[in-house]
Amino acid sequence: MRRYLKKALKNFLLIFEPMVLRIAEFYGIQTERQRYGVHDRIIRHGDNRFVVHGMNDVILEGDIAIPKSVYFNTRSGDIRIGRNTILGENVMLLTGKHLNIAEAKSQNLPFQHVPPKGRDIVIGRGCWIASGSIIIGGVTIGDYSVVAAGAVVAKDVPERVIVAGMPADIIKRL
Ligand SMILES: CC(C)(COP(=O)(O)OP(=O)(O)OC[C@H]1O[C@@H](n2cnc3c(N)ncnc32)[C@H](O)[C@@H]1OP(=O)(O)O)[C@@H](O)C(=O)NCCC(=O)NCCS
Repeated sequence: MRRYLKKALKNFLLIFEPMVLRIAEFYGIQTERQRYGVHDRIIRHGDNRFVVHGMNDVILEGDIAIPKSVYFNTRSGDIRIGRNTILGENVMLLTGKHLNIAEAKSQNLPFQHVPPKGRDIVIGRGCWIASGSIIIGGVTIGDYSVVAAGAVVAKDVPERVIVAGMPADIIKRL
């Protein structure tokens, strides 16, 4: 029941929120949301607040270190992070995707369409996602793995490894 209500509320927001914001703008009423894009929202974790771009879920399972500079994009999937994981500065968690010209044609959808689902990012527990790394959904990063600074992760990472580089590859087993 709770899940159904959550889904219904999300769909309601998707349809009516942009309309309400436009009316507010027309009458010169300032809302927090107007400082950000129409797909953006604020989430809280501990004392920090983060901008999330997209309406899918961010699921933070307990004690997770997240600097303010981390960017969450949930346009095309959920982001789930396990307990005792640490994110460095300027980490980008990107589920969003735009259909390229060939994909749009083969799926009979508009060019640049953003699929609303299907590209989740799942990060296990006890991971270290070091500064400046970019995680591209859908991928799963196994428990206790380390993503090196500046790495671009575009495919699954097993448990207990260090990955580095662009595209990220295993440089060490732990
Ligand atoms: C991933 C990391 C933890 C690895 O540390 P380590 O286990 O001590 O590994 P080493 O320094 O021995 O490096 C192992 C190899 O990986 C390479 N390497 C290390 N970090 C790398 C990176 N970020 N990108 C690409 N290659 C990297 C090294 O050059 C070395 O290559 P070699 O075997 O050809 O000599 C570390 O390099 C890193 O990226 N730290 C993140 C720092 C950071 O973001 N700090 C802010 C706090 S969140």
